[in-house]
Amino acid sequence: MSKVRTSYVCSNCGTSYARWEGKCASCGTWNSLQEEVVIRNNEDMPLSRKAGRKSASKPKLLGQVESSGTTRFVTRDMEFNRVLGGGIVPGSIVLIGGHPGIGKSTLLLQLALEGGLKVLYVSGEESEEQIKLRADRIGQSSESCFLFTETNLDLIFQAIDELEPGLVIIDSIQTAYSPLLESTPGSISQIRECTGALQRYAKTSGIPIFIIGHINKEGDIAGPKLLEHIVDTVLQFEGDNNNIYRILRTKKNRFGSTDELGIYEMRGTGLRQVDNPSEMLISQKDEDLSGSAIAATVEGLRPMLIEAQALVSSSVYSTSQRSATGFDLRRLAMLLAVLEKRAGVHFIQQDVFLNIAGGIRVDDPAIDLAIAAALISSLEDNAIPEGWCFAGEIGLSGEIRAVNRIESRIQEASKLGFTNMVVSKYNMKGISASHGTLKLHPLGKVTELVTLLLG
Ligand code: TYD
Ligand code: MG
Repeated sequence: MSKVRTSYVCSNCGTSYARWEGKCASCGTWNSLQEEVVIRNNEDMPLSRKAGRKSASKPKLLGQVESSGTTRFVTRDMEFNRVLGGGIVPGSIVLIGGHPGIGKSTLLLQLALEGGLKVLYVSGEESEEQIKLRADRIGQSSESCFLFTETNLDLIFQAIDELEPGLVIIDSIQTAYSPLLESTPGSISQIRECTGALQRYAKTSGIPIFIIGHINKEGDIAGPKLLEHIVDTVLQFEGDNNNIYRILRTKKNRFGSTDELGIYEMRGTGLRQVDNPSEMLISQKDEDLSGSAIAATVEGLRPMLIEAQALVSSSVYSTSQRSATGFDLRRLAMLLAVLEKRAGVHFIQQDVFLNIAGGIRVDDPAIDLAIAAALISSLEDNAIPEGWCFAGEIGLSGEIRAVNRIESRIQEASKLGFTNMVVSKYNMKGISASHGTLKLHPLGKVTELVTLLLG
């Protein structure tokens, strides 16, 4: 007879309690405990548990550990290699999160179909026909991609043992379950158990495993927070469902930098790598329109020129509206306050709408200057001439601050044929004022920006 036990598990840190409590004593999160049924069945220990016992490793001197050198598998998807830090590491476990419908399954199916590696694609979400339909849409077929629609982790391990693939893809961790636990798939204890078992399996067998994870309303990967600690790499696939661009960001990487990002375009025939993002993130227009300014940003390590669009119009209601897409609303409020107080540009009784082209979220503070320029341009209905771009952070006292990687921003702007670039004067150390046809305009304060734009 197996013993039935219920426990309350914290969805943040995974600590379990015998009784419900309002606050998790371990991590201090409120209202995070969820009830789970746990049955431990010790009689037939499943493979998922045995896997960890295959090799008993002994303590070793660091000097005795052999490093196998260049063992990464380099895929044909250059964007994917980039975010992984140069290819797939054997025995690594990679978690890919993202909103529903963003293209996680498409991305990994494409990877599975590119050939070169024997891949086992395990899907608990879709039927074989559905996956086949998607593969047809992508237009690739591979002799070495095996499909398996299964959710029982023990059967999955059995299939891996038999097939001995070079890569395993689990779509998704929320549908997988271990028969060791009675709780439903997708529950905290199941997710934790399955990920732990997969991690042990990957480490002992050397087979890399990619896991797709759903994310919750807050944008975190659903399940216990410690999931992200278990895995080696956490990738986030993001973008606007209404837009065609997708960004693959590294949130954690034990084998590379977290500054990397990959850019894709979702087409009718799958995802396409975008080598030159700048050209696509600047909207095409025939005439100069007010309210648009180009920012020379750096996302991760990649320079990109992105268009900021602002619309400032008189408010109809007594409280004016502020809305921002792809930019932090509080930061917009701060920029408006700085322009108001330090440069005497008034946004009172004005609705302000801000949009970053391409549906891309920008974290780089260097976009401030372009946003300020777009706001002033829209307010005064004065278009910024073609060939101008901006890079600078704006401080609370209205100063324009230096930004990092200024050389690569200048290089990118120059490469794309920009003729004028507004930068912080504090960035000018060791930098010449003109680069080919690109002329730099160093500024120290936002008042100087107003003078430059409005004359
Ligand atoms: P999917 O990979 O199923 O998303 P996820 O696994 O993250 O939930 O992607 C689904 C979306 O992608 C769907 O809305 C349709 C779109 N799509 C294309 O636009 N082109 C394509 O070639 C494919 C396969 C999907
Ligand atoms: Mg999917």
